[in-house]
Amino acid sequence: MMRIDKMISSMGIASRREIAKVAKNGGILVDGIVVKDPSRHIDPEKSTVTYLGRVLRYQTFTYVMLNKPTGYVSATEDTRLPYVLELLSPEHQKMGLFPVGRLDRDTTGLMILTNNGTLAHDLLSPKHHVEKEYRFTLERPLVSCAEERLLEGITIDGGERCKSARLLCDDDRMGGVIVLTEGKYHEIKRMMEALDNRIVTLERIRFAAIPLDNALARGAWRELTEEEITVLLSHKK
Ligand code: URA
Repeated sequence: MMRIDKMISSMGIASRREIAKVAKNGGILVDGIVVKDPSRHIDPEKSTVTYLGRVLRYQTFTYVMLNKPTGYVSATEDTRLPYVLELLSPEHQKMGLFPVGRLDRDTTGLMILTNNGTLAHDLLSPKHHVEKEYRFTLERPLVSCAEERLLEGITIDGGERCKSARLLCDDDRMGGVIVLTEGKYHEIKRMMEALDNRIVTLERIRFAAIPLDNALARGAWRELTEEEITVLLSHKK
């Protein structure tokens, strides 16, 4: 037996707060009867739940946070190179999880994996402007115009225009943090090349409002908490 709101939120359809609102307005039916109390317990395998006119087939999704080490490709399999899925438990390797967006092989830090394909699609859509924050170090001090050029949308590789990015440099300008709302291939490396510099290390430290868990060693992972899943769901279309 399971609470109705838990069942619906675990399917990645809406957050518990949204579900409570929908329930109050009569948008949830269990076996054809309106249920206004979202904490009501039901058997998700046996009851037919209708959410805003849609009959739900019970299916739970899994969400994982991984602290990616260098040397691993952002893939679910690879014949030659170590890949991120190998870092999960044998059980989690069989759940159909895949990375939400890619990190370069030499980039470390926060990677989210899920088997909720529609949510992953929404999170990656450029329309959604999901923030991704990275900590970086550089080969030499960054030019003083970097903040302004990145904020106004820098042109990389002599043509491609990036979306506005926020940059906060360390005092010595040999590193800092940068916030992007899109994910072009090698975007930060190419941005720094456009500024006559080179990335030495790159680590993702935040995805949306979810920071990298400092308690996770490189290569370690855990499932997301309910609160973290709610953050992801708040970015659904
Ligand atoms: N930008 C890059 O250049 N590499 C990454 O892995 C992520 C962002």
